[in-house]
Amino acid sequence: MIVPPPNLRIDGARLWQSLMAMAAIGATPKGGVCRLALSDEDRAARDRFVGWCRDAGLAVRVDRLGNIFARRAGRDAALPPVVIGSHLDTQPTGGKFDGAYGVLAAFEVVRTLDDAGIATAAPIEVVVWTNEEGSRFAPACVGSGVYAGAFDADDSLSRADRDGKTLGAELARIGYAGPAPMGGAVGAYVEAHIEQGPILEAEGKTIGIVTGAQGIRWYDVTLEGQAAHAGTTPMDRRRDAIQGAAMLIAAVDAIALEQAPSAVATVGALSVAPNSRNTIAGSVTLTVDLRHPDAPVLAAMDRAFRARAAAIAKARRLDARIVDVWDFPPPEFDRGCVAAVRAAAARAGFSHRDIVSGAGHDACYMARIAPTAMVFVPCADGISHNEIEAATPADLAAGCDVLLGAVLALAGEVRG
Ligand code: GLV
Ligand code: MN
Ligand code: MN
Repeated sequence: MIVPPPNLRIDGARLWQSLMAMAAIGATPKGGVCRLALSDEDRAARDRFVGWCRDAGLAVRVDRLGNIFARRAGRDAALPPVVIGSHLDTQPTGGKFDGAYGVLAAFEVVRTLDDAGIATAAPIEVVVWTNEEGSRFAPACVGSGVYAGAFDADDSLSRADRDGKTLGAELARIGYAGPAPMGGAVGAYVEAHIEQGPILEAEGKTIGIVTGAQGIRWYDVTLEGQAAHAGTTPMDRRRDAIQGAAMLIAAVDAIALEQAPSAVATVGALSVAPNSRNTIAGSVTLTVDLRHPDAPVLAAMDRAFRARAAAIAKARRLDARIVDVWDFPPPEFDRGCVAAVRAAAARAGFSHRDIVSGAGHDACYMARIAPTAMVFVPCADGISHNEIEAATPADLAAGCDVLLGAVLALAGEVRG
């Protein structure tokens, strides 16, 4: 393996500047970002990224799912590219770094190689994946999922948001339904990301060497009862969907606590009809998110959830409908690729530890088709999916340096 120059470093101030310029698109009053997938803000962020890439001389292509690839040629065009990047969409009250960091760290790696006049054997592609968050269009990680063959392209393009607008129509509206063929061989995939949890900060470690991620199951649950007058309907005659929802929400919490300490479970969105103070709720729809690093435990949580939903529906005389939205088995990353990240962290002199990701990432789908790894950096108090999400310029630069070292090892440096 060719060892990159130990003193080669990315430009941390330039990385921070590009992060702040991107964070201005969809900036919220509380210092966060709202850049929902395929919104006008997402288009503006994509346009800015593409503009920067073209200015840097990269060849940009966009596929049918709106995934953007910006390519820096290698010496050997026959080699599959080393792909690095992440996503630019955010949660409704998201932060500045979730996703954008991985994209802009990847771009900073390319700029650093250009400045240093370093050629690589394999091409390098900076990628922006479509709809990683899954907040506006479920499920999450759709662009990478289709790329890796986990999802059907037509089915993904037909997914609708709450207003009935489809992913495909919104992609076309913002001008990112591209002509490039979907998929293609990838030599290696590496994604930099903030940890989005508290472990690195608590242990005083700069770099997380991500060995895999926990599994995720998403569901939409509808509880149907009967809307009725709040003043005149005796308690024993009610079919109150909100009371059923309250019991189910408590049950979801209990399912995670029964599998402590590694399980987590969340009801994150609720919609009530007719949503009126003095009418018993006739119908409630809620989202459920179950996670565990071990597939058998996640399967047991899935069974417990279905059984309890059925029991609650029976007890409250409700109809319960469960739609499976996302089944994301826990991936393990490639040992060689993970070792390249670990070696890069060690060579650059950063403290590090192995870590399993609590969040889903595009890397998890890319791991199905290419040697894959991730680089984590700490974030303040472990908070993410929140406008206060924060990370230090020094940690962000360190993660980008590790990404650079890993890319040089994986793409093969060519001197002269
Ligand atoms: C994806 O961002 C997830 O972990 O929910
Ligand atoms: Mn993310
Ligand atoms: Mn996220």
